[in-house]
Amino acid sequence: MKKKFALALAAFMMMGTLAACGSTNTNENAGSAADGTSTTSAVDAIKEKGEIVMLTNAAFPPFEYLADDGSVQGVDVEIAQAVADKLGVELKIVDMDFDPIVNSLKAGKGDFAAAGMTITEERLKQVDFSDEYVTSSQVVVVRADSKLEGDKAAIDAALSGKNIAVQTGTTGDWYAAGEEETGSTIKDANVLQYKSATEAALYLINGKADAVIIDQKPAEAIVATNEGKLKILDTKLTDEEYAFAIQKGQDDLKAVINEVIAEYKGDKVDELITKHMGA
Ligand code: ARG
Repeated sequence: MKKKFALALAAFMMMGTLAACGSTNTNENAGSAADGTSTTSAVDAIKEKGEIVMLTNAAFPPFEYLADDGSVQGVDVEIAQAVADKLGVELKIVDMDFDPIVNSLKAGKGDFAAAGMTITEERLKQVDFSDEYVTSSQVVVVRADSKLEGDKAAIDAALSGKNIAVQTGTTGDWYAAGEEETGSTIKDANVLQYKSATEAALYLINGKADAVIIDQKPAEAIVATNEGKLKILDTKLTDEEYAFAIQKGQDDLKAVINEVIAEYKGDKVDELITKHMGA
């Protein structure tokens, strides 16, 4: 009896190994042969192309924003440039809406996404994440004269049924919608989805929205550019971690990104945040 089970287990484990090889071979961007006999790595494919493509949404200062000359700048761009330098290739940046970034990455339209993107269970089903390089929170931005205050439960209750402006497809959007994964207890809010947090803030200023829920640093940037009109509530709604996203199974590319992140995480990232908050 015992022996039979052991054999069955060994066979089962072998199947698992084979299945694992199979999934590597089907990875389109890694340049695998159609017959599945040989694979090149994601890194080799990038070196062959001579460029690495970053997907982002440049409406998220200080992590990514459009500079006066029209180029995309920010903390994520600098880290991404270091990844490109390490690989000896050009960095190409694709600026797009935030919401479809994960799907575009999955479809191979870029090599990685660097977009102040929070690691979430939902996204982990679609893509892999590097090590985290920034910790952040969702915060509430309101008009400067707002009396709203209290702990998370009180804020959630006060925002229930209200007009909340967000950037589509972000964790702030999910929080406003009361999605469980975010830990939100907001009920029946009217969630107003915009393409950028800056646009969402305009609707807060003109009174169409009661609050904006977005990430801490972009919130600070928005409050600073709309001097005196807006403020951020002290209460933090979530604890989040940003990482670069890559296609599933591209472990060699992930390793290179993680090496760069290890160099930047901490002081270097903090310096970049300060530098780009001022820009
Ligand atoms: N951290 C939030 C999320 O991952 C918002 C990110 C928005 N990023 C951007 N580049 N617009 O959902």
